[in-house]
Amino acid sequence: MKRFKILGTGMAVPQRIMTNFDIAKLVDTSDEWVTERTGIKQRHIADAETSSATLGARALANACERAGMQTANLDAIVVATSSPDTLFPSTGCWIQNELGIRGMPAFDVAAGCSGFLYALEVAACMLVAGSGKRIGVVGCEVMSKVVDWTDRSTCVLFGDGAGAAVIESCEQDVGLLSSNWGADGSLAPILYLPAGGTRTPATEQTVKDGLHMVQMKGNTVFRHAVRAMTAASKAALASANLTAADVDLLIPHQANMRIMEACRQRLDVPVEKMISIVDRYGNMSAATIPIAIHEAREAGRMPDGSTVAMAAFGTGLTWAGAVLRT
Ligand code: UT7
Repeated sequence: MKRFKILGTGMAVPQRIMTNFDIAKLVDTSDEWVTERTGIKQRHIADAETSSATLGARALANACERAGMQTANLDAIVVATSSPDTLFPSTGCWIQNELGIRGMPAFDVAAGCSGFLYALEVAACMLVAGSGKRIGVVGCEVMSKVVDWTDRSTCVLFGDGAGAAVIESCEQDVGLLSSNWGADGSLAPILYLPAGGTRTPATEQTVKDGLHMVQMKGNTVFRHAVRAMTAASKAALASANLTAADVDLLIPHQANMRIMEACRQRLDVPVEKMISIVDRYGNMSAATIPIAIHEAREAGRMPDGSTVAMAAFGTGLTWAGAVLRT
């Protein structure tokens, strides 16, 4: 077990809301299609000045405020994002700068939509190893700036937002009871952003070809997502010696209601125990799980002693399952 307690959580989303009806004015789609296939009704969309770090900094400041501490007293900032501010430096450093603090390590974990669970695992290991006492873990995304707004099969899915948690090492039996994380790099081409890195540097042609935007084989991702999330959750529960009956709350990555439902049914967790925010926010990649955690805590759905099963999948392909005891 990796012991830590959640001192505070926070979130930030851009003000502007875009409904399915708004998107239907841009591409050939409908509220009916998007609702039926994904469960998404609306998403928040950042303005020109807002980046992943802007939202991440707001969420982390919010989490620190609720934890009753100054951001300057964090021992590290670990950030999960697939829409970083820049190739380098890390979005963690941009967040630190945005908060006007310095000194503590700040870095990114790149695991797509599995990013928050990866970052939480890294931060929990740091606490257990004694690399700090209080760590800010952030998931932040401005996916709207890396999707192709002429591609109806992807632009309807994503949204912008950030969630954060401040975790502190402790002696009590709370924290991550178990986790199961992994990756299969051979599946990279089913969901990726091809250009702009050293594999395919930016040229006039890459821009013309739309290679700086999300490319996805939706059907293939769907199948792998259900399989990977279910297997990772089952493995995490088994290594904590728990069964689905012990789960108080299920927080799956919020990509598509049909994926979440398929996973929930395979795990045999009752529907009322699953947190679902995908209808209001869309897929905010690494930000969905921390925002779901924040909203669940705010709603009193994660009291002390809760057993929370979390699961995610993302570009890579990556996956992660984790069981949290609050
Ligand atoms: O965090 C990881 C991120 N990725 C995901 O979570 C994606 C996982 N995949 C999915 O969520 C689903 O595959 C989608 C929602 C992307 C697509 O749903 P689907 O049920 O797999 O549809 P499909 O790709 O099989 O497409 C069915 C039809 C196609 O038309 P034809 O070829 O049958 O005539 C598409 O062109 O639906 C069409 N289509 C749309 N129609 C209206 C695709 N997107 C849209 C759209 N509006 N937005």
